[in-house]
Amino acid sequence: MFGCGHWNRGLFHGAAGLLGLGRGPLSFASQLQSLYGHSFSYCLMDRNSNTSVSSKLVFGEDKELLNHPDLNFTSFVGGGKENSADTFYYVQIKSVMVGGKVLEIPKETWHLSEEGAGGTIIDSGTTLTYFAEPAYEIIKDAFMKEIKGYQLVEGFPPLKPCYNVSGIEKIELPDFGILFADGAVWEFPVENYFIQIEPVDVVCLAILGTPRSSLSIIGNYQQQNFHILYDMKESRLGYAPMKCADV
Ligand SMILES: *[C@@H]1O[C@H](CO)[C@@H](O)[C@H](O)[C@H]1NC(C)=O
Ligand SMILES: *[C@@H]1O[C@H](CO)[C@@H](O)[C@H](O)[C@H]1NC(C)=O
Ligand SMILES: *[C@@H]1O[C@H](CO)[C@@H](O)[C@H](O)[C@H]1NC(C)=O
Repeated sequence: MFGCGHWNRGLFHGAAGLLGLGRGPLSFASQLQSLYGHSFSYCLMDRNSNTSVSSKLVFGEDKELLNHPDLNFTSFVGGGKENSADTFYYVQIKSVMVGGKVLEIPKETWHLSEEGAGGTIIDSGTTLTYFAEPAYEIIKDAFMKEIKGYQLVEGFPPLKPCYNVSGIEKIELPDFGILFADGAVWEFPVENYFIQIEPVDVVCLAILGTPRSSLSIIGNYQQQNFHILYDMKESRLGYAPMKCADV
């Protein structure tokens, strides 16, 4: 079952439609489970790829992905019996690494309450990544402490910090990765967490805070060039580095 939206609001204003991939029973992904099994995956090509190339969305098992040597998994959490209609895919973060250092972030920051407040979701429909406070401040400060060589510039809200990299051949920025509570590690290439602003030679951290919410979100910008697997049979998230334009 799917239908026409007559009151499409918010960020998706003007879009021809919205394909629901959530955990709820009405989503396209959930409805297809009886046909294709309990998993789907997508591979989002990067922002700078040729626009004649499309990203891929796969319903059902993808054998090639499952055989990928660098496919890592972390468990989904929450969304249990009591709130099984919950549409989001929650993962449990333990900490975050910047420049090879594991940051000291109070573990309550990542807590998902029984009532469904807080926690971290992975979302294909949110662009940038958001971290709840105080995680965001700590992460931003860690980047600013690590980045010394470039001139800090303002004027690209809501993005910050931003740096002037005019005339710099090889831009070097700190590593960034997420550590999950079950021991899984997710390390990202720099183009997944810094945005190059054109035509000015400026790079900005593509991570924002959530001052009014305790929900953290791993957005789609951060997922570029990973094949992302939602395995609802094993209740786990898979991610494998991939040049999505070539898939
Ligand atoms: C994008 O792909 C099309 C079709 O393959 C090709 O004709 C075009 O030259 C490509 N553009 C760039 C900028 O590479
Ligand atoms: C970056 O630095 C260059 C060279 O010093 C300068 O010309 C340019 O205006 C600066 N850009 C910004 C956005 O500050
Ligand atoms: C997958 O996990 C291994 C072992 O923890 C780690 O070294 C590797 O960087 C992870 N892959 C990604 C893409 O983060």
